[in-house]
Amino acid sequence: MNDSARTVTRHYARAGSLAQRLLDIAHGLARDDRLTVDDLAPLDQFHMRGAEATVEFAEMVKPQPGTVCVDLGCGIGGPARWLAINCGVEVLGLDLTESYCHDAAALTAAVGLAGQARFACADATRLPLAEDSVDLVWTQHAAMNVPDKAAMYREVYRVLKRGGRLALHDIMAGPDGPPHFPVPWARGPEGSFLLPSGEVRRLLAEAGLSELVWHDHTADALAWVHRRRAALQAGEPRPPGPHLFLGEAFQDMAANLGRSLEDGRITVHMALLQKP
Ligand SMILES: C[S@@+](CC[C@H](N)C(=O)[O-])C[C@H]1O[C@@H](n2cnc3c(N)ncnc32)[C@H](O)[C@@H]1O
Repeated sequence: MNDSARTVTRHYARAGSLAQRLLDIAHGLARDDRLTVDDLAPLDQFHMRGAEATVEFAEMVKPQPGTVCVDLGCGIGGPARWLAINCGVEVLGLDLTESYCHDAAALTAAVGLAGQARFACADATRLPLAEDSVDLVWTQHAAMNVPDKAAMYREVYRVLKRGGRLALHDIMAGPDGPPHFPVPWARGPEGSFLLPSGEVRRLLAEAGLSELVWHDHTADALAWVHRRRAALQAGEPRPPGPHLFLGEAFQDMAANLGRSLEDGRITVHMALLQKP
């Protein structure tokens, strides 16, 4: 593992094993003894707009039942479980942070989906997968931690079947300077590797992927930040989220995410590309 990968995994693994803490909170919030993917969803989706964005992303991508899907940078497996149960796909979640892969497997077993979503530790720039073997590569908010995005997209191209698709939902650089650190994906610039969307599109094309759809969701993300802030200022209780087990440090990071959006320092995009 190189220095930047060590910085990234140290950042995510700092809170230790998350599965049991998350399950305890989810049991407290659930209406039933038997936990479901929906009970975990407010807690296990580590990206802007949480489960709401995953639903919107899936509406755009329309994953087909029975297809093989790889979730690249799967975190603790929230999106992978959501895809398995709602779209009927078979998911392999891959993530650089080893403890997250264990958490993802434990949470998936707890909701009875171990047969439909599996997890393994791997680097997005060196995928342990055969050429032409995957129908859909799905990735949400992972590329911002990957310094060599050209290598990541070349690997995606290699493992996709002909006609297979890459669905990406990522934070990218804004025009007005670097993000306000710390942010949820990095304590400082040494762990954050954002590129402007134009540069990302160029790298994807160079890797051989054809663009089918590209949506800039920065305005939606900003509206979400403003809605949440207004609700808190109006005295509404904070909705359940990862802050419940990641603590106060996470709240500061989330606040910096909002400020970075407002100041034009980050942008948010969803896109669909295809291996011709
Ligand atoms: C912000 S989390 C997003 C997790 C998940 N996609 C989600 O939306 O809930 C970013 C994840 O990317 C993973 N990651 C960062 N760099 C990676 C790399 N080079 N290869 C694979 N995973 C990586 C991190 O370990 C972390 O789990």
